[in-house]
Amino acid sequence: MKAHTGLRINTDRLMMSIEELGAIGAYRDAEANVMGVRRLALSAEDGAGRRLVMRWFEEAGLHVSVDAIGNVYADRAGRDASLAPVMSGSHVDSVPTGGRFDGVLGVLGALEVVRTLNDAGAMTRRPLTIAFFTDEEGCRFGTDMLGSAVATGRIPLEQAYALRDADRKSVRNELQAIGFLGDEAVNTRRPHAFVECHVEQGPLLIHEGIDLGVVSGVQGISWQRLTISGASAHAGATPMHLRKDAGLAAAMINTKIHDMCAHGDYGSDMRATMGVIRPEPCMINVIPGRVVATVDLRNPSDDAMHRAEHALDAYCRELERTMGVTIVSQQTARTPAVAFDESVQQIIEAAARTQGLSCRRILAGAGHDAQEWSAVCKTAMIFVPGLNDGISHNPRELSTPEQCANGINTLLAVVLALSDEVA
Ligand code: GLV
Ligand code: MN
Ligand code: MN
Repeated sequence: MKAHTGLRINTDRLMMSIEELGAIGAYRDAEANVMGVRRLALSAEDGAGRRLVMRWFEEAGLHVSVDAIGNVYADRAGRDASLAPVMSGSHVDSVPTGGRFDGVLGVLGALEVVRTLNDAGAMTRRPLTIAFFTDEEGCRFGTDMLGSAVATGRIPLEQAYALRDADRKSVRNELQAIGFLGDEAVNTRRPHAFVECHVEQGPLLIHEGIDLGVVSGVQGISWQRLTISGASAHAGATPMHLRKDAGLAAAMINTKIHDMCAHGDYGSDMRATMGVIRPEPCMINVIPGRVVATVDLRNPSDDAMHRAEHALDAYCRELERTMGVTIVSQQTARTPAVAFDESVQQIIEAAARTQGLSCRRILAGAGHDAQEWSAVCKTAMIFVPGLNDGISHNPRELSTPEQCANGINTLLAVVLALSDEVA
């Protein structure tokens, strides 16, 4: 066996793999005039992307298995089979208007780590597992980090199976339809450590000219689906004071959550978004009788998040009284703020330093599979900066080969360090 130190990944191979996977579900975004990716969880495109990555896992000599929620694991033996593996991975599903890097960098980066070890004939002390997890994005079935949450016991399998998309198709049926209703039991894997490389999806690293982010944790996420019911009526013939305008109520809630962010009562880092606003009947001369809307709240403080949720609920009750509408809220996802493991962050910092890369601690703004794994093993993440202000969930998402290589060479060094740990 050869020594591991000084190993470098093959950047061209990594970028070619990212390109090839990005061609599955590719579409031309007319506004940005670039190619985007649409690989919604458990769609035919997701199935095709999954099969390509699985084939690459197998070609790398890994033992591949699929669990009951469709997570895919690829295992590589270590020198000591009695030790728990080091796991690395992310997701290959995308939002409807996604880029090529979100999730994919972490999966194909972990694969590149294995390919590099294979080329060197290197065997690690601990086994390695690389993985991708079902429906990280939550855009189709409403709950993000679904696969990793089931894999680590936060969400029961049957509850996940029962989730339905807008066409009433269930997670279980759609897993079966794309051939990923696997037979491995969920909530059984207990790695020694989990480390995920991901694009930052924000502007901080690129603006500060820093090579890598060492992720200290993830802020809390609260998702609600609001169904606002009023009364549909003629836009010209209905006097303003006799209306029950569900569209107006949605607009007021949207304004309210933005005011809550500006106000500072819920911390200076609260973020709020109404990403879905669907009025019915959606016609120029008809008062909307019903609106389905979503609210996405983010907050690094659990206490501030609770207070913001209560304030939003109280505002909805006030609108019911004053506007004659009814507002039914369904919580579709809720995760607390998560702090990552200090020792893994230090290993990432040391690996970056050894390679001459600058880095800084950074809190993740988006949700990630790593936050679920942090419930069962020591965990941290590496962030790679992106061009275009680090834009993400957008076809203009872009990290250069050098930026990706910095992240994945660091991932390689971190995986090697963790896999050498005996306890
Ligand atoms: C997942 O990407 C999220 O944070 O919305
Ligand atoms: Mn992601
Ligand atoms: Mn995403």
